Amino acid sequence: MAKKTKSALVTGGAGFIGTHTVLQLLKEGFHVSIIDNLDNSVPEAIDRLRHLAGPVLSSRLQFFLIRDYIHVMDLADGHLAALKKLFDSEDIGCVAYNLGTGRGTSVLEMVSAFEKASGKKIPIELCPRRPGDATEVYASIEKARKELDWSAKYGIEEMCRDQWNWASKNPYGYCPQP
Ligand SMILES: NC(=O)c1ccc[n+]([C@@H]2O[C@H](COP(=O)([O-])OP(=O)(O)OC[C@H]3O[C@@H](n4cnc5c(N)ncnc54)[C@H](O)[C@@H]3O)[C@@H](O)[C@H]2O)c1
Repeated sequence: MAKKTKSALVTGGAGFIGTHTVLQLLKEGFHVSIIDNLDNSVPEAIDRLRHLAGPVLSSRLQFFLIRDYIHVMDLADGHLAALKKLFDSEDIGCVAYNLGTGRGTSVLEMVSAFEKASGKKIPIELCPRRPGDATEVYASIEKARKELDWSAKYGIEEMCRDQWNWASKNPYGYCPQP
């Protein structure tokens, strides 16, 4: 039987989550089309993607008080797991999965983790909760673990480490100068 061509359309593909997910998709052999109006991104993000993926890309491209923080690479892999299920299922319909770590992290814990990763003291100002802010929000991850065989690998230490690493090497984001 002929193998199905795997194609994915990534809206906001030049953004933070989009770029990471596109790279993972390409590595998995997907043909990827990006729709992004560059409202919150720059063409250099796509250039950087092309550089990271190599020539293969060109050929296939077209807060709460407590919340669930997830490493962007875990999020990208979770999307990939969902797409794999979609392609492996005959008649899946529309199913929603929560992609999170299932662990709640307070803002203060996050500040502390960032201070550790960066070796810098972060100034903070304690304010009252904003109207509408839920006290505690984190994902129920059982369904994704059982049905997608996916769970997050990284914790806040790795998230802060990798974010600091990127920010240190790209102090002005994608722009070479301020
Ligand atoms: N970053 C996180 O930790 C995180 C966690 C959970 C959920 N989310 C959600 O995921 C989504 C993406 O997050 P992100 O951090 O990648 O944001 P981002 O701003 O980096 O990426 C969004 C991309 O969409 C593009 N865009 C905006 N409006 C558009 C339009 N009308 N047509 C085409 N492109 C358009 C922007 O130019 C940008 O490149 C957001 O909805 C965000 O709330 C983000």
